[in-house]
Amino acid sequence: MNEGVKLAEPEIDFQEYLTEKRQVIDDEIDRLLPSVSEHPRELHEAIRYSALARAQRVRPILALTAYEALGGTDLDAALPPMCALELLHTYSLIHDDLPCMDNDDLRRGLPTVHKKFNEGIAVLAGDALHDLAFQWTARSGKIELVHELAVATGSLGMIGGQVADMEAEGRAVTADEIEFIHTRKTAALIRCSLRFGGILAGAKDQCMESLTVYGAKLGLAFQIVDDILDIEGDQDKLGKEVGSDEKNCKATYPAAVGLDESHRIAGVLIDEAIAALEGCSFPTRRLTEMARYISQRES
Ligand code: IPE
Ligand code: IPE
Ligand code: MG
Ligand code: MG
Ligand code: MG
Repeated sequence: MNEGVKLAEPEIDFQEYLTEKRQVIDDEIDRLLPSVSEHPRELHEAIRYSALARAQRVRPILALTAYEALGGTDLDAALPPMCALELLHTYSLIHDDLPCMDNDDLRRGLPTVHKKFNEGIAVLAGDALHDLAFQWTARSGKIELVHELAVATGSLGMIGGQVADMEAEGRAVTADEIEFIHTRKTAALIRCSLRFGGILAGAKDQCMESLTVYGAKLGLAFQIVDDILDIEGDQDKLGKEVGSDEKNCKATYPAAVGLDESHRIAGVLIDEAIAALEGCSFPTRRLTEMARYISQRES
């Protein structure tokens, strides 16, 4: 045996890659969340119920994929802020499902938090997940990450998008308006996830720029695909009700430009996301696979 010569590990395929990363994220969230034995128990049960339900974990996986592509290896330091992205996202879903917003009964294959518990617990579990997300981000010691997350999810980002989404209910919107909504309510946090990976790995300006463009394009495509799945998707695979957008007379890409055009725009955005990585000095294969997966996903 030739000591010193390290044989390359055989590369796992993309599905195995996703499964493996999901498990890493699930385990870390489980490890870091307060136990259900903490008082008040109902709140901690609701937090764990929503955050540990079956989910894609797209945002932390994108952060982790970018981080590892850039050579990052310190998972003890990197995973808490990456999992914070998932907590922030989970809080947004709990609130999005409330009767005062989308009024949905099914999420991640389970009754929504306000159905399983009650509205007060749903509001407060969402609030607590938001706070935990900033706590876990702050563990990195990087004030830049705290700032990134606050900007991406505040009134000029995700929350602004959610308000614009509500304001647009029941009326016809232009393609520009719908792009405004989706860029904020969904793409802002996905773009932020790529930037988390880059910042944690110490990426240089040019890499950060590529990741940012990739994240913004992918994030917009992600929400367009979500709109399409609300019409064409399968409830069991999605773990949430289809037809919610029509029920709420939502401003969606299919409503604004039609289904065929929505598919086409999502495809163009995915291609543009992948093209944004061209010329990067780091390996981009997994990020390219993530983009293809997001355009073809059924859940
Ligand atoms: C659903 O997010 C809400 C959107 C922003 C479109 P996901 O499709 O990532 O849902 P989970 O996290 O897997 O449940
Ligand atoms: C949700 O958009 C966006 C946020 C929660 C920020 P949707 O309302 O389309 O998400 P789903 O379809 O309920 O998952
Ligand atoms: Mg909504
Ligand atoms: Mg909704
Ligand atoms: Mg939707």
